[in-house]
Amino acid sequence: MQTFTAYSTRASILVSISLSLLKVAVSVEGICSATSIFDADSNSYPLYWKVTNPTLSPSHLQDLPGFTRSVYKRDHALITPESHVFSPIPEWTNTLGAFLITPAMGSHFVMYLAKMEDNSRSGLPPYDVERFIFVLQGTVTLTNMSGISHKLTVDSFAYLPPNFEHSLKCDASATLAVFERRYASLENHVTEQIVASTEKQPLLETPGEVFELRKLLPTTAPYDFNIHIMDFQPGEFLNVKEVHYNQHGLLLLEGQGIYRLGDSWYPVQAGDAIWMAPFVPQWYAALGKTRTRYLLYKDVNRNPL
Ligand SMILES: *[C@@H]1O[C@H](CO)[C@@H](O)[C@H](O)[C@H]1NC(C)=O
Repeated sequence: MQTFTAYSTRASILVSISLSLLKVAVSVEGICSATSIFDADSNSYPLYWKVTNPTLSPSHLQDLPGFTRSVYKRDHALITPESHVFSPIPEWTNTLGAFLITPAMGSHFVMYLAKMEDNSRSGLPPYDVERFIFVLQGTVTLTNMSGISHKLTVDSFAYLPPNFEHSLKCDASATLAVFERRYASLENHVTEQIVASTEKQPLLETPGEVFELRKLLPTTAPYDFNIHIMDFQPGEFLNVKEVHYNQHGLLLLEGQGIYRLGDSWYPVQAGDAIWMAPFVPQWYAALGKTRTRYLLYKDVNRNPL
């Protein structure tokens, strides 16, 4: 009898503890949903809105001194928006840049965000350096040495060959993702200016994989890198656990999921940037309620020797 009473008292304490835990869980869930899931992924926001308006860590952690999801290791890095440091870009006017990947990490390319303000203008890349720009927010005007201009809006991109005179201008505000590398030239081959938009690129076959793939540059020999746009529906993941000689710079444009890099597993979301050195084991699974879209630099078409 005594045993039974003791047992039932313990049981009822357990029940009430579990209930109160449940209440906490429910209310925390309510807060998270309201701020980070429903708002951010609502269809009423412009394309790639999350990249320039990221969730700065879980809302209850963003004011915690010293907290960041950013990681820098020998063979990979995750650079999350709360770690971005913007400063004037040499040669550009009224433009702030955050260099997220540079050769100091081991890469042979740079990847940076350029925030162009009122009456801003780009500078030229160094000698023999090719440039790729992708518009994340706003509108820029690209003019080449023939004096011919293109208006580039969100989702548009341009490739500028090495030593190709051009300028990007912006009257209001625009945010660009920019990739640059020293061109690995091939005899009898030259690259050309390319201006297009992601939505106009055809979907490509991805044997053995479920994600949707678009390539923004030609796959022909002159081009020593390509930029892939990869889309995953929630729950979809890479089949191949890739390990390869190519290096990657990745910018998550939409959605959230888990990125595996080496032996580390990272929760990631729109706005996050990733550096992958050659041969780092890499794998992604999309989670959340909306598709993941990311943009990926990959060096191609050159002998690794
Ligand atoms: C300048 O841009 C126009 C339009 O895209 C293109 O036809 C022309 O070839 C470009 N000039 C050069 C020198 O590439």
